[in-house]
Amino acid sequence: MSETWRLDRLVLQGFKSFADRTLLDFPDPVTGIIGPNGSGKSNLVEAIRFVTGSRAQDLRGEELKALLFHGAKTRPPRAWLRCAWSSPGAGSAWWWSGALRGTGASSG
Ligand SMILES: Nc1ncnc2c1ncn2[C@@H]1O[C@H](COP(=O)(O)OP(=O)(O)OP(=O)(O)O)[C@@H](O)[C@H]1O
Ligand SMILES: [Mg+2]
Repeated sequence: MSETWRLDRLVLQGFKSFADRTLLDFPDPVTGIIGPNGSGKSNLVEAIRFVTGSRAQDLRGEELKALLFHGAKTRPPRAWLRCAWSSPGAGSAWWWSGALRGTGASSG
């Protein structure tokens, strides 16, 4: 039987335009993201798709290194993603974290 899990928290650093550590809590259901052109709405959706298992190639046709923040030479080509899921039915919570490096990816 399949269970419904919801994304409670997403923490990003170095992912696309999210250079600095960015913490997003989703206490209520989300129906959309609004903001000016280029403000990162699609990047956020890509982060959610990434942590739910999409391959880099499926994200706007990009390769893995395109997911790393590339806006400053002083920043290392690394990204961290961390998220919390919960399943009220199962009464449990689950954390996932992953890292991306300029040369490849790892998660666990
Ligand atoms: N790897 C990256 N490193 C740094 N900045 C990036 C990276 N990839 C994309 N960006 C920046 O993200 C911005 C675009 O973000 P995004 O496409 O998420 O915006 P949007 O809010 O969806 O815009 P629109 O309303 O036009 O769809 C651009 O400024 C682009 O330079
Ligand atoms: Mg967009």
